[in-house]
Amino acid sequence: MESKIKNLNQKLAKAYLGGGQARIDKQHEKKKLTARERVMYLLDEGSFEEIGALVTHRTKDFGMEKQQFYGDGVVTGYGTVNGKLIYVFAQDFTVFGGSLSETHAEKICKVMDLALKVGAPIIGLNDSGGARIQEGVRSLGGYADIFYKNVQSSGVIPQISAIMGPCAGGAVYSPAMTDFTIMVEDTSYMFVTGPNVVKTVTNEEVTSEELGGASTHSTKSGVAHKTASNDIECLEDIKKLLSYLPQNNTETPTLLPYELQDEVRDTLSSIIPENASTPYDMHAVIAGIIDTDSFYEIHKDHAENIVVGFARLGGRSIGIVANQPMYLAGVLDVNSSKKAARFVRFCDAFNIPLLTLEDVPGFLPGTDQEWNGIIVHGAKLLYAFSEATVPRITVITRKAYGGAYDVMNSKHIGSDMNFAWPSAEIAVMGAKGAAEIIFKKEIQAAENKEEKWKEKEAEYADLFANPYSAAERGFIDEVILPKDTRRKLIKAFAMLENKEVVKPKRKHGNIPL
Ligand code: COA
Repeated sequence: MESKIKNLNQKLAKAYLGGGQARIDKQHEKKKLTARERVMYLLDEGSFEEIGALVTHRTKDFGMEKQQFYGDGVVTGYGTVNGKLIYVFAQDFTVFGGSLSETHAEKICKVMDLALKVGAPIIGLNDSGGARIQEGVRSLGGYADIFYKNVQSSGVIPQISAIMGPCAGGAVYSPAMTDFTIMVEDTSYMFVTGPNVVKTVTNEEVTSEELGGASTHSTKSGVAHKTASNDIECLEDIKKLLSYLPQNNTETPTLLPYELQDEVRDTLSSIIPENASTPYDMHAVIAGIIDTDSFYEIHKDHAENIVVGFARLGGRSIGIVANQPMYLAGVLDVNSSKKAARFVRFCDAFNIPLLTLEDVPGFLPGTDQEWNGIIVHGAKLLYAFSEATVPRITVITRKAYGGAYDVMNSKHIGSDMNFAWPSAEIAVMGAKGAAEIIFKKEIQAAENKEEKWKEKEAEYADLFANPYSAAERGFIDEVILPKDTRRKLIKAFAMLENKEVVKPKRKHGNIPL
């Protein structure tokens, strides 16, 4: 028995070395942790249990039978984060560049299957040269198996992807179908085709970083939900993200113990500027409402005219969607609509109540927006809110103009509680523009046009640039003082806790894509 135990230990020691010390050193030189180090850092100490450490590939072409590494380029298993079960796979760049073989894919599929059966999040740490070139279509099949499982798991268990090295070609589509993608700055990139192919096909000269680095995807494309400055920060980010989420779609996120206090927040009373055209930072409103330092922003640098993220409110995990007057006056456009719609759908799928903070002057006008399909993209957000059955509350802080009023979780599309601050202006459009249209003849006929315009603007503003017309009809449930907002929201979300909505049977809706 002793020799057999020794034999096992030797095999495991080999497995733990991946592609060998030289390649591990190379990984460290690139300021990257190894797959195993990443897993150990992510999971609670001593909680990791590995599955498939002794798996090897089955390829015999190109002399591959002589190149065998235990684990075949991916570390898989389960453990806990903050005491809760998760499944994990981490691609090991020291073994064939973390490339995906048939067996490598089988290992990933095995933990994905377990995660789905048990109902626990799956975390993928990606660092791979793509399909194992020596395996051809077998490796492509492996990718497709993973994609299929990503889709079956979507909306059932949270799926989080970290990009911690190369992720190119078909490999990008698994992260793209997971719920959140976090990229490490400088050491990771994602693209469907790399710079060389781009140069051949389109004659564009572009670096990997420009084409698909963390900064590109977190600002321009929105493919990355977050960036981290190094591996450790990335893994910390994943742990924090998990703390807002339930284990699966049949559970709700953990409610932290909280006792209601007076909850008055005077800072909220002085945020809205006197002049309705002056911007202010919606982050200040968010900070004034939520539990201290609990905001976890998603897509911080992409479509900044809308702010989305998780927070805690009286210990409860909530999702926040908020117009940002600091950018493009907080208008809805193609990118902000897509960003918010995806976030709303995630929250709805995983029983996370939604808070909407509204200050929206409408949709962004222009050929660029129209030609890029603002109609269909704006409809995504409208659709996402309308289908959401989680508790939904809106606070209108200032502008709620036009169709955007309807879209931003209005009472009419199923919101449960709608509050407005006294500074709210709920109207078809701003008073100036409205006066110009409906009093056009009167203004033109007046001796002093400018004065008449101002007079009519004031008349319209008097009637609609306030929350009271909407409150009279019950579209607003209560006009509240800003300083009371936190208390009102804590109580309203608690009141809505057992909300249940029965929907007609259907296969699935047809969200405008
Ligand atoms: N299949 C098989 N082996 C691969 C591989 C793949 N797709 N990608 C990388 N490797 C191997 C390399 O042969 C090398 O092996 P070695 O350690 O025995 O020398 C090792 O992984 C590291 O690769 P290397 O090229 O030295 O690393 P790098 O950091 O300089 O470059 C990449 C990384 C990903 C840019 C580069 O390896 C690459 O372009 N790979 C191919 C990408 C691709 O076209 N994939 C298929 C389409 S999805």
